[in-house]
Amino acid sequence: NSTSKLKFGILIKYISLVTLVIQMTSQVLLMRYATTRDQPQFLKTVAVFFNELVKLVAAFLIFFLTADSVSSALQGLKYCYWTNIIDTLKVGVPAFIYTIQNFLLYIGIENLDAGTYMVIYQLKILTTALFTVMLLKRRLSILQWLALGILIAGVVIVEYSARKNSSSPTIIPTNSTLFSANVSNSSGEFFFNSNVTENLAEILNVTEPITTQHRVMKSGNPILGFVALLVASFLSGFAGVYFEKILKGSDVSLWLRNVQLASLSLPIGFGVIMFNDGQAVYNKGLMQGFDWAVWGVVFIQALGGLVVAVVIKYADNILKAFATSIGIVLSTVASIFLFSVYPRLLFILGAALVILAVFVYGIFPYKPNYARHQDEES
Ligand code: C5P
Repeated sequence: NSTSKLKFGILIKYISLVTLVIQMTSQVLLMRYATTRDQPQFLKTVAVFFNELVKLVAAFLIFFLTADSVSSALQGLKYCYWTNIIDTLKVGVPAFIYTIQNFLLYIGIENLDAGTYMVIYQLKILTTALFTVMLLKRRLSILQWLALGILIAGVVIVEYSARKNSSSPTIIPTNSTLFSANVSNSSGEFFFNSNVTENLAEILNVTEPITTQHRVMKSGNPILGFVALLVASFLSGFAGVYFEKILKGSDVSLWLRNVQLASLSLPIGFGVIMFNDGQAVYNKGLMQGFDWAVWGVVFIQALGGLVVAVVIKYADNILKAFATSIGIVLSTVASIFLFSVYPRLLFILGAALVILAVFVYGIFPYKPNYARHQDEES
């Protein structure tokens, strides 16, 4: 029985890691699309609130479906909301942090392209390791720290090579001579045509006359995006490790922990809406700008929250960081096949570094002194 339980654990571990990689990639792309379209924007705080709501409903369902019996499930809920409310409140720390983090991720992707976003957010690999050592009192060998550094370097190089492949100039003249003016002043991509050329040429500081339809990329505020992701990286590392401590430090079930987490995130999320967007909600309603793409992001992010919890429970936060890095390499490889761009030397170098880092990290764990002595004797 215990071996089958072990096998089940290992299976869950790998399935959840793979799911997380797919989740991460699709989230970044859909979020970028949803936040930079030429149409009235949705309120990000509202999207974060619904993310928490979806997580709560899902955690409730899974908790009930996996409970031994209805009465034991009710017992669990009583524990959560009544007998041990103090324990539930402790989960308030990661609940608050995840809510803020999710909001910051929107600010990040709205102001940076997907590649830059991914690279900067990888800083969470280091913050995660740092908090793992500080809060979980786990130790890493010097070579493991080195592996983390190599990992970051590898991811940055992979992303850099991908961006060079697809780098687009600010203005791309297209062959079309269509004259359907479609000018937008919101952030993101927009099209315009030669009716409005001279003024636009001046505004955009372009010397050539604009005679055919042009495609213009308007970037947001990269510094704001950078700072948002920097803070999000710290929050992600801290919240992940803190949640790992809670998950592994007691025998409260994973799904009850998720119910606790989302129960607290929900009122916090509501507070954040009121604080940040109260007036906007009053003026144009809660659901302004919501459509399939926004709901898509909401559900993908909620999936992320639940999968992150599973990964933390069955693996750990550092393994999670490695898995997402390998995911970045694999998705770049996939785009090589899908869009037939040939890998550059730079990409191969970056991918090699990521793989090297995985091996170094796995082969050289920290050994306490007495273990080292035993090694030398044998
Ligand atoms: O922290 P990390 O970036 O690895 O989380 C992956 C995704 O899951 C992020 O979009 C994060 O906001 C989301 N998440 C969540 N709720 C949690 C944990 C993570 O929405 N409790």
